[in-house]
Amino acid sequence: MSAGGREGLTHWEGEPVTLLEALLEVPRVEAWGELSSTNDRARTLAVAGAPGWTVVLAEEQTRGRGRSGSRWESPAGVGLWVSILLRAPGVARDGLVSILAGLALARAVEAEAGLPAGLKWPNDLWVDGRKAAGILCETEGDAVAVGIGVNVRQGVEALSAELRSRAGSLESAGGRRVSRLGLLRSVVRELRRFVDPPPAGLDDELLNEWRRRDVLLGRRVRVAGIVGRAAGLDPRGYLVLDTDGGESRPVAGGHVEIIERRPPGPAGE
Ligand code: BTN
Repeated sequence: MSAGGREGLTHWEGEPVTLLEALLEVPRVEAWGELSSTNDRARTLAVAGAPGWTVVLAEEQTRGRGRSGSRWESPAGVGLWVSILLRAPGVARDGLVSILAGLALARAVEAEAGLPAGLKWPNDLWVDGRKAAGILCETEGDAVAVGIGVNVRQGVEALSAELRSRAGSLESAGGRRVSRLGLLRSVVRELRRFVDPPPAGLDDELLNEWRRRDVLLGRRVRVAGIVGRAAGLDPRGYLVLDTDGGESRPVAGGHVEIIERRPPGPAGE
């Protein structure tokens, strides 16, 4: 097995890759020592006809990317850098899958790291007031590569100066060992619950689940040129802003700038 001339790993986290397929109950797992980006590889596999729930792992990404073209620091061995290929009908249609992936990741982090997870729309995960994980969903035809990056065991000193004040990792927040394999199993299991089959929208239960972890709730924010108080999500997964003019404005996408901070909650700032 090779991609870009490199050989794949036979083991990941001490387990044979073939056993990982059984453990995760997925048709295919690829693990690489180094990839440019697991999303690139998952998209290549999507074009080549790989089945849904193909999982691509890398110990290190040389060109890991985040939303809006940003760089995602992905050094060797300290994080979970993974892409999960989804092919469920309708899953590529809208942004809902990234909201569902965020909920799945939050559940997994809480279960495996024992830490309260905050969610910042659309798909940042915070622990202890710092961003510890992010999700980048990219469509390829009717498939979606759900790219998940979790900082698991970086000490703050291992983060670039640019990230040091606002990023963190699960182990530095919780002070205990977190299993990358446990986290991966949990993410795949929770994501399967959410997208197999994909829901038409977020029901009250899912909306409430987001709300419990919503680090923006009640804060004054600016997104897509609109200023308002964040009032949760609507069933499409849009962020709802209550504007000063008394309007309720759903926003489909964009970077959220927090204008007004509030005292720390369990996982927020
Ligand atoms: C963000 O917060 O901006 C999203 C970060 C997503 C990073 C993950 S790591 C695995 C996958 N491969 C990538 O190149 N990006 C995603």
